[in-house]
Amino acid sequence: MTIITVTPNPAVDKVLRVPQLRPDEATRATVQALYGGGKGNNVARALVRLGAKVVATGFQGGHTGALAMERLAAEGIQTEFVVCREDTRTSLLIYEEASGHTYAIYEPGHAVTPEEIEALRDRVERLLPQAALCLLCGSGQSDAVAALFADIVARARARGVPCLLDSSGAALRAGIEARPFLVKTNLAELSDYVGYPLAELSAQRQALMELHARGVAIAALSRGPRGLLATDGNTLWEGVLTMSRVVNVVGCGDSLLAGMAYALSQGADLPTAVRWGVACGAANTQVVGAGFIERSEVEKLLPAVVLRPVDTGLG
Ligand SMILES: Nc1ncnc2c1ncn2[C@@H]1O[C@H](COP(=O)(O)OP(=O)(O)OP(=O)(O)O)[C@@H](O)[C@H]1O
Ligand SMILES: [Mg+2]
Repeated sequence: MTIITVTPNPAVDKVLRVPQLRPDEATRATVQALYGGGKGNNVARALVRLGAKVVATGFQGGHTGALAMERLAAEGIQTEFVVCREDTRTSLLIYEEASGHTYAIYEPGHAVTPEEIEALRDRVERLLPQAALCLLCGSGQSDAVAALFADIVARARARGVPCLLDSSGAALRAGIEARPFLVKTNLAELSDYVGYPLAELSAQRQALMELHARGVAIAALSRGPRGLLATDGNTLWEGVLTMSRVVNVVGCGDSLLAGMAYALSQGADLPTAVRWGVACGAANTQVVGAGFIERSEVEKLLPAVVLRPVDTGLG
């Protein structure tokens, strides 16, 4: 059985390392990584590296799209993209040695036509019979993608395939209405969805319980260095793993989703999925690029995750 990842808003990610950025001067850079990116593709990479069988779909276009597909396939990901009219965008991640900071520069996503949306719907429909899970990732901006996500969630459920949704804005809203099995948010995404600030744990709990009340079986909230909260409506779990050295935060959320999806695909319970998610998010902080985690590293981190039930008997 395979895991499907759907990436409507892909990118070619280039990671550069520079000594220091200076205005009006040429800067010599070394290329650290060049890969097929975009949220679902990063999740696909992390999943394959954990040992899962993955089919990546979504859109790709132009020479950049061809490059992305070639790189993803070379990583052992089965590629089933819909080739669209516009070029896949390029994202630039610049690591500056002098400051230790990374500058992440994202071009806007490309437009897609109604025909291209229709083609992606058909592609996912065709892939669903062989899928254990379907992951819908990214692109909160377009209404067409929002409708597509909602439709895929409903179709997948009709076929008994659980959907995991990691999105924002309109696509998060529409996707939740279709009641996916799991929703993974970060603080900004969930706060935007519920319409109140999430500084306090009590507000975070309330927001996750709102998702659950809307028919989401597992509601998850990742909080960067403060780890993951997730609930099945009965128990609220917290998983945290503090890393002494962080070299990269790009793709932590994608790696976390991959860890949860991997564990769930193996029949794990929620606390075990939380542990895997946090270990994979933490592993991603140690590597350049999004989702380039090592399974051996994840296995070392798993027992170090501090896991506790924050609340029980919520339902
Ligand atoms: N600085 C950090 N130290 C330790 N773990 C981290 C750190 N940043 C992220 N993580 C781990 O990765 C998980 C996901 O990170 P985060 O909450 O930033 O996701 P996100 O906002 O969805 O990220 P993305 O930019 O990939 O979408 C966290 O829950 C945590 O487990
Ligand atoms: Mg995220």
